[in-house]
Amino acid sequence: MGNSVDSMLSPFMENHTPAHGLPAVAYTGENFWKAECETVLAQNWVCAGFAHELAEPGDSVPTTIAGKPVLLIKNQRGEIAAFHNVCRHRCLTLVDEPKNVGKLIRCPYHAWAYDLDGTLRASPHFGGTDKHEPEGFDRTKNSLVPIRVHVWHDWVFVNLDGNAEPFEEYAAPLIKRLDGIDFDKVQPIGILDFGEIATNWKFIMENFIEPYHVQFVHSSTTDQPLTDHYTIVDGRCLGSAVDLKEEVGTGGSLAVSSRYLTLFPNFIVGRYFPDQLGVYLNIPLGPDRMIQKRALYTTEGQVLSNEEIEGLKSLWWDVHKEDHEMVERLQLGRASPVAESGGVLSPHWENSVRAFQELIAGSVTGQKREMKT
Ligand code: FES
Ligand SMILES: [Fe+2]
Repeated sequence: MGNSVDSMLSPFMENHTPAHGLPAVAYTGENFWKAECETVLAQNWVCAGFAHELAEPGDSVPTTIAGKPVLLIKNQRGEIAAFHNVCRHRCLTLVDEPKNVGKLIRCPYHAWAYDLDGTLRASPHFGGTDKHEPEGFDRTKNSLVPIRVHVWHDWVFVNLDGNAEPFEEYAAPLIKRLDGIDFDKVQPIGILDFGEIATNWKFIMENFIEPYHVQFVHSSTTDQPLTDHYTIVDGRCLGSAVDLKEEVGTGGSLAVSSRYLTLFPNFIVGRYFPDQLGVYLNIPLGPDRMIQKRALYTTEGQVLSNEEIEGLKSLWWDVHKEDHEMVERLQLGRASPVAESGGVLSPHWENSVRAFQELIAGSVTGQKREMKT
């Protein structure tokens, strides 16, 4: 794998002024996607879900991380756990839609049952009628396979290979930028489910951290002049920001000071002063498809009317649809030979994009462990 990915990336590694973006194959190639699944999406803390969607013991949400079926579930002690979402008998996916499973996760195929800690509790008639545990079969060795998980406020992160540094260290450059938020007051007020988007997940990340497009793509939905924007490049925390003098608060448009922050690889949080937060769940599904959900939060414990909430949801829906059109067209453009060398990046507005792409390149070529953060 290493060699082919290395050669795909060698033009990207060369010095050009202005810098080139990642080559098209990084957004379209199956081999590149597989390399990402083994590195970027397995070795890092990947955002996998919203904790508030797992409120009660037994609540479970299936998802896909690095192309693998993963189950998030709340156990009897109120903790969120993650498992490979696969039965230990014939490896059927266990839970196929969000639901409360009660006290046991029961496989629909032959009724093997696991408790909420993943322990195998029943393997009915596996050794013949009324012989549930045949010789040589050790029930305790056939529990669900756990995945390392960390819940940070409302956001559930998983680390598939189990070797990432502790989350608080990993996320330090992002955490310090959310200073001043009283997380006890942060309340989810709604969720936008965009379903599947026909683009490579990296385009969604790149789009979020460059301010260059804002005044052109969002001219009718936002009022944030380009000149007031700047980029943020700080290890795994990449983003952009805009500082405006007037703040209009929850009821207004997007004419507010904002921080558009990401945590490598897939976590996005938008901080909109004075009182809103938006968090995006970006789930890569393959080289050219992903799913996205966005949760809206208030940060000062304010109570909004349904009408206000619907107004905010529809504003954000429109803003995101504008971005989705662009990222789908970025993907379509990758079919052209013109995109092979990756286009060019603004040294001023898109240095954050270049930094993101360098993290990707470092990760897939195996330099991640040495990477300075
Ligand atoms: S595959 Fe799950 S019980 Fe057979
Ligand atoms: Fe945008």
